[in-house]
This record gives sequence, C-alpha cells and structure tokens, in this order.
Amino acid sequence: MGRGRSGDLLPLVNSSAPGKIILFGEHAVVYNRPALAVPVTQVHVDVEVLDSSSRPGIWVNAPGINLNAELNSLPTDHPIASVMLKLFQSLGIFQPPPMDISITSTIPVASGLGSGAAVSVALIRALTLYLEQPLTNVQVNEIAFEVEKLHHGTPSGIDNTVITFNKPVYFIKGQPIETFKVGKPFTIVIGDTGIFAPTKESVMDVRLLWLRDTNNFEHIFNEIAQISLIARRSIESGKPELLGEFMDHNHELLKQLTVSSLELDTLVQAARSAGALGAKLSGSGRGGNMISLVEKETAESVSNALLSAGAKRTIITEIT
Ligand code: MEV
Repeated sequence: MGRGRSGDLLPLVNSSAPGKIILFGEHAVVYNRPALAVPVTQVHVDVEVLDSSSRPGIWVNAPGINLNAELNSLPTDHPIASVMLKLFQSLGIFQPPPMDISITSTIPVASGLGSGAAVSVALIRALTLYLEQPLTNVQVNEIAFEVEKLHHGTPSGIDNTVITFNKPVYFIKGQPIETFKVGKPFTIVIGDTGIFAPTKESVMDVRLLWLRDTNNFEHIFNEIAQISLIARRSIESGKPELLGEFMDHNHELLKQLTVSSLELDTLVQAARSAGALGAKLSGSGRGGNMISLVEKETAESVSNALLSAGAKRTIITEIT
C-alpha cells in the first residue's frame, strides 16, 4: 500500500470524531452535577496516517492551524504533540515508527463544540490503528481526558466522553459512563457568535467566584442539576418539547454564573423571537455557541434570524 493510480499517497489508516454540544449542565458538571451532551456529526475532525517511506520522523500536517512540522520540533505541551506523546507513553512506545499525519477539522476552535477533544479522539484512534494496538472506547476516553487536563485546568471530562462514545451521554464526573436513548427525535439550531472563548478561562473564573460565594454558587449548581435530571427524563420519554423551558431556565442560571455575554444573549433572544421553543448558551460561554430547540418547520427561519442577529454561522442538527 502506498500510491494510488495518479501517484498520490494514499492513507494507510483514517479516523474521524464528531463535534458535540452540551444540552444542559455545563459548568455545574465541573462540580459533580449531572450534564447532558450529544454528538454533532455535521462537524468533525478527520485524521489520516499516510505512508512516510520518503522521510524519517513523525510529520504532522494540519493546514487549519498552519501547522506542518516534525513532532520533535514542537513543544511538548503543543495541543497536537501532547496527544501523541501521551499516547506513546500509555502504550509504552519509546521509539515510534516514522509516519505522516494529516489532520483536518470543520469544528471551529474554542467555540464550545469540542474541537480539542475531537482532535484527541480522532488522533488517538488513527495512531492506534496504524500501530496495530487498538484500544477500547474506555481506554481512548481515558487518554483523551489526560490531554484535556493538560489544556483545560479542571475539566469534567464530558467533552472527551461524548465525543469518544458518539452517543448522547448523561455525565457525572468520575462516575461510570451512562449513555441514554432519545425517545423522539428533536431539532436544534446552533448559532456561533464567532467569538473565541477558551474553556480554561471561564472555568477558572467560575471557580474563583465559587470560592468567594460558595453557598450561592452551590445553590445555582443544584438548580442546574435538577434541570439536567428532568431534561433526561423528558428526552427518554419522548417529550422533547419540554426542553425549551428548561433551556431558558438553564440560560438564566448560566448568566448568574457570569458566563454569558452580550452576543450570546442577543442570539438567544433572536432565536426565541423567531419561534424557538427555548434557547441557551452551550459550552463554556463568554463567546462560542448557543443552541435553540425548534420545531423542524421553523429551523430555517430561526437559523436566518440568528444570522441576521450576528451569528457567524449556524448548524441545524437532528438529535436522534
Ligand atoms: C465545556 O464544554 C463544558 C464545561 O462544563 C467545562 C467542563 O465540563 O470541563 C464549561
């Protein structure tokens, strides 16, 4: 294996990982409350490992972030190098074979759609296939979580989990993974503020506020936990229309945690005015994405309303 008819290099192995949205419970999940997340397959990271017989070393090409470099030339905490180094360490590989790795992504960076975790998961899977040391989902998830911890301070692990398992998850930090069934499909319109908002910063800010005003923040986290719990039941029992009200309530609580922003509030309001059943920010907030629950027939008009209100892009996704 190596060259196609045209002489182009062919991938030896490839792997893909989806984006994700958090439906309910972001931030509270860092404090051991439950949260619900679902994969978003319209956006994804794709990794190919190509034949590298022409040159030694491990070469990484990721045009989306202007990266074309040999692994050893990258700092060990580089987002992509750190995934590979963690993986080699876990597998006990000290002299990895030469390879050419190509990484492409349609998931916007630092937008709440799980781009970092998706890179980790797709890269771990492609490399273990190439090295002929396949891992279980639980093992892939563990390594991806180690990488999340390097870059996000005190992450809950929800992003790597929903992306690894590629199923709706009801997530409580440190507890066995629980996936859940969607009783009746529902439609979500995602709106991107286009504002770069690193998770680490908002998670750290919430921690400082929690330390200063623990009782109040614990109370807010408990209310969010209740929403996640009832929302799961509504989804499983085929009553997704109830989620709209829960989204509105969850958004108000996220505002109290100080993680919303003018742009997010504007998009949330625009979605509601255009007929969405409810809307909230999704992910770490301050920028990034918001989500809205819609009837299928109104998805296009809510999407247009979001674009008119300043969204840089929208995604209409069916949760099944
Ligand atoms: C980020 O997608 C969600 C947060 O709850 C952080 C985390 O769970 O690690 C803000």
